[in-house]
Amino acid sequence: MCGIVGYVGPKSTVDVLLGGLKRLEYRGYDSAGVSVIDTEGKLATRKRAGKLAILVEDIDNQPLGEAHIGIGHTRWATHGAPTDGNAHPHLGGDSKKLSLIHNGIIENFAELKSELLEAGVSFASETDTEVAAHLIAREFDKTGDLIESFRKVVRRLHGAFTILVMHQDVPDLVLAARRNAPLVIGLGEGENFLGSDVAAFVEHTKRAIAVGQDEIVILRQNDVAIENFDGESVTRDEFLIDWDASAASKGGWSSFMAKEIADQPQSVGDTMMGRLSSDGTVHLEELAALTQKLPKLDRIIMVACGTAAYAAEVGKYAIESWARVPVSVELSHEFRYRDPILTSSTLVVAVSQSGETMDTLMATRYAKESGAMVLTICNTQGATLAREADAVLYTHAGPEVAVASTKAFTAQIVSMYLLALHLAKARNTRALSDLQEIGKELLKLPAQIAKVLEQGKSVAELAKSFKDAKTVLFLGRHVGFPIAMEGALKLKELAYIHSEGFAAGELKHGPIALIEKGQPVIVVVPSPNDPDSLNAKVISNIQEVKARGAEVIAIAEEGDLEAAKYSAQVFYVPKAHQMLLPVLSVVPLQIFALELSAAKGLDVDQPRNLAKSVTVE
Ligand code: F6R
Repeated sequence: MCGIVGYVGPKSTVDVLLGGLKRLEYRGYDSAGVSVIDTEGKLATRKRAGKLAILVEDIDNQPLGEAHIGIGHTRWATHGAPTDGNAHPHLGGDSKKLSLIHNGIIENFAELKSELLEAGVSFASETDTEVAAHLIAREFDKTGDLIESFRKVVRRLHGAFTILVMHQDVPDLVLAARRNAPLVIGLGEGENFLGSDVAAFVEHTKRAIAVGQDEIVILRQNDVAIENFDGESVTRDEFLIDWDASAASKGGWSSFMAKEIADQPQSVGDTMMGRLSSDGTVHLEELAALTQKLPKLDRIIMVACGTAAYAAEVGKYAIESWARVPVSVELSHEFRYRDPILTSSTLVVAVSQSGETMDTLMATRYAKESGAMVLTICNTQGATLAREADAVLYTHAGPEVAVASTKAFTAQIVSMYLLALHLAKARNTRALSDLQEIGKELLKLPAQIAKVLEQGKSVAELAKSFKDAKTVLFLGRHVGFPIAMEGALKLKELAYIHSEGFAAGELKHGPIALIEKGQPVIVVVPSPNDPDSLNAKVISNIQEVKARGAEVIAIAEEGDLEAAKYSAQVFYVPKAHQMLLPVLSVVPLQIFALELSAAKGLDVDQPRNLAKSVTVE
């Protein structure tokens, strides 16, 4: 996690850095700092614990000098508490002329630190990062060659890192290195940028290059070179960023999360655009590289974490039902440690908004090494997971800034439906006309989500009345089960309320013991038109918990009068294909968590202890 930005160019560097950090703040927000080399050639650093606003105020009160080169960092603490001292940048060497920022974890820092302590170096922080600053500064003091010193030290580091370095004695240069943590270059006219992702510089340029694994960037105002850790030159293709800076601003909404929930008709529509024609036929050109293999798949394993894993769970129902191939969903961090069975006919699907989640990245690398094919479903262009996969299906949700995932989740589910339809066609498991009918139902989703959003005010009213709830339970069945778990996760992370999602059928096997008078239970009710009469079974579950005193809130399909009969309140979603209901029924749960968090006066976009992109294992 942590956000990183670097700049060399004619603009006011402090403004460029702080603007970039503002857009990267979702990656970590427990401290922030910048270093610049001012026009008099002096290195100046300012860093403060707390949110970026504290640093901005500090700099406003006591401005840093004019500068045209600098680096900035927003932190999610790993080693060392979030204090001013542990904030980045860290300075290296006795003369403190080197400044360094880091995202990731240097796993061998203890060993390197002992070496430095023995050599008499004193440390100003408790971080793993500071060792790198001292090591590079000491090498530079010996040789006067910053690039070679940098190469030499990054080769010694183990673990995950994006590191940016500047030195007062080489005032035209920012160096960067990347291993297992993201780094993107922004190419401007007479200026160049570095960032953890394109959000860092999208307001200045749309031209970008994703830096590869174990690569170094040598960035100057009019020149960018990439090389590997051995100093051999590397060529990387440029890409154009397909969203503009305004997409990543709040645009009048009270929070990014509120905006992103409201964006969903658009983001779901964009994810289908060009892939689903009006007659319901799916075209996924992106999967061309896998075409030969799809009919012969032995199984699919989806690897993901958190919300993305719940999207994958929904995908499992659709793929198994339509394409008749076994699917399992695995939490990425568990997957590779249990010696899974993978063959060249196994398709591993990595699902990730950021495309940088370290657990998922490690799971897919393991899968590739074991001979499986890897498909990534991802929302971030040029992300590591996208680059390392055999094929990529981008969700076109646009930038998701709020830490809690909403529009990326629904876009992931929709991508999963597209994948399921594509697989069913390739494997010839369903009549084309059936698949087209489902495709046409999919096309209705944007308008249907817009209808669900109209109930936002009543959901908000309800959420306020739950302000003092100690625990909330969520029930669901079939595709509603992952939605129950997602509703519970949203409430935990945003409102800090204990919540659990259960499969409704599991209730009688234990969880029903939790029900007492007044216990709020939110139930995701299957369609009354479902062929397996799961609706009737869930209505029975509602009756069971109500009989024991629960206060039931139902998310049900329009016209489901039975759901209304036994519930304190019902939110209706439009009639849809039963497999597609999750995209609609999750929306009231997102609003519920958002409004409950806001009612408690919490920071909706940046909940405590979290960061958006989890780039550590
Ligand atoms: C919850 C949430 C997280 C992420 C998870 C995976 O609202 O956002 O649970 O879904 O950390 O992140 P990505 O999708 O970036 O791999």
